Amino acid sequence: MMNPFVFHSPTRIIFGEYAASSVVDAVREVGGTKVLFVTDEFLLKSKILEPVLASLAELGTECTFVFADVPPDSEIKTVNSAAKIAVDAGCDCVVAVGGGSVLDTAKVANICISMGGHLMEYQGLNNLAERLKPLIAIPTTAGTGSEVSMVAMVKDSAESKKLLFGSRYLAPDVAILDPTLIVSLPPRLTAATGMDAVTHAIESYSSVISSSAFTEALCLQALRFLFDNLERATVDGTDIDARSATLIASTMAGVAFTNSGVGIIHALSHAVGARYNTHHGATNSIFLPHGMDFNKEVAAPRYADMARFLKLDNSGNDEKAAQALIDAVRQLTQRLRLPLRLRDMGVTDFEKEQLEELAELAATDASIMFNPREVSNDNLIDIFKRAY
Ligand SMILES: NC(=O)c1ccc[n+]([C@@H]2O[C@H](COP(=O)([O-])OP(=O)(O)OC[C@H]3O[C@@H](n4cnc5c(N)ncnc54)[C@H](O)[C@@H]3O)[C@@H](O)[C@H]2O)c1
Ligand SMILES: [Fe+2]
Repeated sequence: MMNPFVFHSPTRIIFGEYAASSVVDAVREVGGTKVLFVTDEFLLKSKILEPVLASLAELGTECTFVFADVPPDSEIKTVNSAAKIAVDAGCDCVVAVGGGSVLDTAKVANICISMGGHLMEYQGLNNLAERLKPLIAIPTTAGTGSEVSMVAMVKDSAESKKLLFGSRYLAPDVAILDPTLIVSLPPRLTAATGMDAVTHAIESYSSVISSSAFTEALCLQALRFLFDNLERATVDGTDIDARSATLIASTMAGVAFTNSGVGIIHALSHAVGARYNTHHGATNSIFLPHGMDFNKEVAAPRYADMARFLKLDNSGNDEKAAQALIDAVRQLTQRLRLPLRLRDMGVTDFEKEQLEELAELAATDASIMFNPREVSNDNLIDIFKRAY
């Protein structure tokens, strides 16, 4: 019998080289007249955003309010500062251009802008009762899927943990996928963000509770694009076909995981990221083969499906095919020259006490409930040690 499921994908997705240079059309379509423009310092100072800002200038003078103070791992005070600019200016639309940190900041700031009150009132799952102001998301990394996802995460620095906001009203209204904006992403970040998308596709496909034929189809095609193009995009950032394929793949994996959930790899990665400020995608790529080794006992048939689709195995044996996928993931990470161990990312002091705290954080992360295999705190500690 098939799982019951709900599949929801409300974001209008526009793809094309230089598509972001027509962002004003999307703003007009959603009825926006005054825009909060969220980005980061690096992108604002580079020339990357010039065509996007030129397009918004068509709205008139003093109609675009820029907030560019988003750090790589955004936090509550960043969100509040962005929201204040929009509220003071009376903005009726948000345009976010950047990596997952920028997009998540804009999504959470839009809660404050639209609903008022204190951010913490809306933290958690399904705490929004109505639509927010329109938001247009333009990713400049190919990895997080935040441009289509119904979740956003920001850090609570005081508590050293990531806060999750999840609601169908958090899905952006429009996602503009413009591969020309990603050409400048350096090799290390290209590889790390791409491995976030690989992790989304693998965890989404293996999610037991809520995966469906819709999410599975998206995961398989996303994985094929990523296995065929991520290394190319990393080696030659100007390869626009490879950039396009990885960008489309990360959005497809985003639609998939936001409907099906992720799993143990994201739970572990969120815990380490919150404590040690490691990059989300790079941390996922370290945990990915270890989490798959752990899940294989129950997820072998799912891993085997993916391995066969990627033509990694033709043995007809699920165990062998599942192992072929795990091996392929390890080899891809090596070819991308990403760190293979947590200690190579500056994670130190992994003593017993820290391990127990991290396991507790991972065990209470919302991602864990979608994992195909039951997980104990001892299992989590064991995987942390292996990944260290
Ligand atoms: N909402 C979701 O669905 C979701 C899913 C996965 C991850 N996330 C979140 O996303 C964040 C990570 O996002 P990320 O991996 O995109 O990295 P990021 O947004 O933190 O960006 C990393 C760095 O890349 C730089 N950068 C971005 N685009 C660039 C470009 N085109 N050229 C050169 N430099 C560029 C940024 O300036 C920044 O310094 C984490 O906070 C994570 O929790 C959200
Ligand atoms: Fe992720």
